[in-house]
Amino acid sequence: MPNVNPDLLKLKNNYFFNEIDKKVKLKNLKNPLNLGIGDITQPLASSIIEALKKASLEMGSKKTLKGYGPSDGYLFLKEKIKENDYLNLDIDIDEIFISNGIKYSASNIGDLFSKKSLVGIANPSYPVYVDANVIGGRKQNILYLPLKEENNFEPICPQSALDIIYLCSPNNPTGIAQSRQSLEMWVDYAKKHQSVIIFDGAYGSFITSDNIPRSIYEIEGAKDVAIEMRSFSKQAGFTSLRCSYLVIPKKLKSKDNFLINSLWKKYIDVRLGGVSYPIQKAAEAIFSKTGKVEIQKTIDIYQQNTKILLNGLKKLDYKVYGGIDSPYVWCKNPNNLTSWQFFDKLLDKSIISIPGSGFGTLGEGYIRFSGFAKKEIILEALNNLKAL
Ligand SMILES: Cc1ncc(COP(=O)(O)O)c(C=O)c1O
Repeated sequence: MPNVNPDLLKLKNNYFFNEIDKKVKLKNLKNPLNLGIGDITQPLASSIIEALKKASLEMGSKKTLKGYGPSDGYLFLKEKIKENDYLNLDIDIDEIFISNGIKYSASNIGDLFSKKSLVGIANPSYPVYVDANVIGGRKQNILYLPLKEENNFEPICPQSALDIIYLCSPNNPTGIAQSRQSLEMWVDYAKKHQSVIIFDGAYGSFITSDNIPRSIYEIEGAKDVAIEMRSFSKQAGFTSLRCSYLVIPKKLKSKDNFLINSLWKKYIDVRLGGVSYPIQKAAEAIFSKTGKVEIQKTIDIYQQNTKILLNGLKKLDYKVYGGIDSPYVWCKNPNNLTSWQFFDKLLDKSIISIPGSGFGTLGEGYIRFSGFAKKEIILEALNNLKAL
């Protein structure tokens, strides 16, 4: 038996969601009010379900059967993405790669670059960026980009040069979307230092403020420096079905002059093998006339629930951020409580939240609440909070 990969052992023990589960189970709550959940709670649109059924039936007929598909996705889905999500942004079909979730893409994209690359990751942020780089042997190469209240939780460009930068807008967990000006600064920075930006737009469909870019390619020059990832998970309830996509511009080149687009194609030919036909057909249905109306209705429900949550917390005098362009509300803990202390207090009131410290050291002192929770749960939780 060989030794294990020592970098895998550098991951923190007890993935923090397991820790939350353990605490919640121990409490044995009769009526848990889950405001922690970052997963969908509304059923999928009927146009998605119909497309899924139809495509599954096609698999049972000799005439319409599909075997292995293209590793970068079917043309029918790529065309819909180009026509809808990149209507005026000049993205080519062969710059779009269908994937099985941003989790896969964001955690593997680092494999394309040298192990010695210096990586910039927001603190706090979606834990996958850090964990994937730790497994990839870059634990010592990570520069944390602080997200602070005084900077409206936007990452500031460092003085030093970074090779790879992960930007997430709207950000998980702070719920804040990056302004156009901030993204422009990062694109300029990346050009100056020959860095690559990995832009995670998982929550782009929740943006409501004017003038907030949904795509980094709305910023001039971004096609020279950025890879974009978007997902159908939160937009259309695909957290279980698994479908997302990346855009890798053809002109994106590494410092040593390799085309990133071709390298990713090579990589997924080896590792991914594509996303199944019925799932891609289901994703295509999102772009139909009915599909668009249906998924917007569901997003509206999540947005209304987030608004109730945000306003309710404000009324109770909590200092809250986010919740306008994202389904997440970032709440400063009262009385200088640590994240886990406040989590425990909330749990005493049957409320499940996510301790901010699980997203990075600068998440300490905050709690993340989620607007994916059902309205009745949010209202009951706000009522219980009154008694705190
Ligand atoms: C910022 C961010 N990116 C990506 C994901 C995962 O997306 P997917 O379901 O497409 O893998 C999540 C899930 O919570 C997330 O918060």
